Amino acid sequence: MRRIAIILGTRPEIIKMSPVIRECERLCLDYFILHTGQHYSYNMDKVFFEQLELPEAKYNLDVGSGSHAEQTAKLLVGIEKILMREEPDIALVEGDTNTVLAGALAAAKLHIKVGHVEAGLRSYDRRMPEEINRVLTDHCSDYLFAPTEKAREILLGEGIPDDKIFVTGNTIVDAVYQNLNIGEKRVNPLNDLELVPKGYFLVTAHRQENVDVKGRFKSILKGLELVSEDFGLPVIYPIHPRARKMKHHFGLKANGIEFIEPLDYLSFLQLEAKAKLVLTDSGGVQEETCVLKVPCVTLRDNTERPETLAVGSNVLAGTSPEKILECTNQMLQTLRKLDQNASLNWENPFGDGRAGKRIVDILMG
Ligand code: UD1
Ligand code: UDP
Repeated sequence: MRRIAIILGTRPEIIKMSPVIRECERLCLDYFILHTGQHYSYNMDKVFFEQLELPEAKYNLDVGSGSHAEQTAKLLVGIEKILMREEPDIALVEGDTNTVLAGALAAAKLHIKVGHVEAGLRSYDRRMPEEINRVLTDHCSDYLFAPTEKAREILLGEGIPDDKIFVTGNTIVDAVYQNLNIGEKRVNPLNDLELVPKGYFLVTAHRQENVDVKGRFKSILKGLELVSEDFGLPVIYPIHPRARKMKHHFGLKANGIEFIEPLDYLSFLQLEAKAKLVLTDSGGVQEETCVLKVPCVTLRDNTERPETLAVGSNVLAGTSPEKILECTNQMLQTLRKLDQNASLNWENPFGDGRAGKRIVDILMG
């Protein structure tokens, strides 16, 4: 039996790797979790292990925060030590964070096969640290688990051999299907926040290129204010620690926006599923809204999830306040048309919720 090292370190990796971990558990496979500790606050890390009932990581490197070079260097050193000790056959990483790049690079140099879950995504914007991580990780991977045909084509276009690429769907669909109904029974964030279904907007924004630049962050907050004023509805923003830190640092204020702590997964999914519309710069949230049939306005100039634009679940607004309001109106108009004719509703392009099982089957040969 092949031994798998599952390397993860941030909120989205824990969520998107959870279906793979569950499958490894179900089949009693020889695997272990290596947590890098890139995310470490309770509400960015442990809460997801508890709620998704994941086994504890065998290792936690406690790498924490730092500049890109500092963090990536610590990640590389720590991951290499564990991989040398454990000698797994495969190192599995998910997504586009610094943890992913370091995990792939450390493993590849030790001649350990690398599996990349969510391979082949491209924003074609090299100013994003995630884009650099994606490209480099894909090019040192042996198993490229592309979520869609589009991602597969991108990889082929970059010269990656066809026999390394497997179109599996995105494990976020598995995670949504596995947790939406459980959340419905176990948590009631709408009650806690005094909200009614379809009577509020939900926001997440944390990208470095948005919140670390005063002008862009200010502009996004202004756009959210316009949405709040125009619709007279609550705007709920569970704020990522990076964004909270930068908002405080720049001394930014915003009227009519309810900033709350980052939420656990079951609560966030419920809030997302019942929102009138979601405004975000998150990758995972663009996918989840598409699966949940909730319209999405993306606070970016580009996306590595073009499938969402193609099916019409998502639109790119950038960060101009007027454009954010205009796109919100445009998406809600589209939704009204869809409500009148349910057969027009968009198809989820990210798979059938069995990506985790496919990935494990392929790895086990
Ligand atoms: C990282 C990923 C990003 C991903 C995001 C998911 C990279 C380059 N970026 O961004 O792609 O979308 O995770 O949420 O890997 N902090 C805390 N507690 C934590 C974690 C972070 O307070 O548990 C604060 C620290 O002030 C830290 C800042 O957030 O400096 C940024 O954390 P970092 O992990 O460097 O990047 P993210 O913005 O979280
Ligand atoms: N999420 C969550 N609580 C929150 C905000 C987001 O559980 O308060 C989940 C969300 O459902 C999605 C994932 O976190 O599955 C997205 O992670 P994030 O936006 O941090 O990273 P990205 O997807 O942009 O890399």
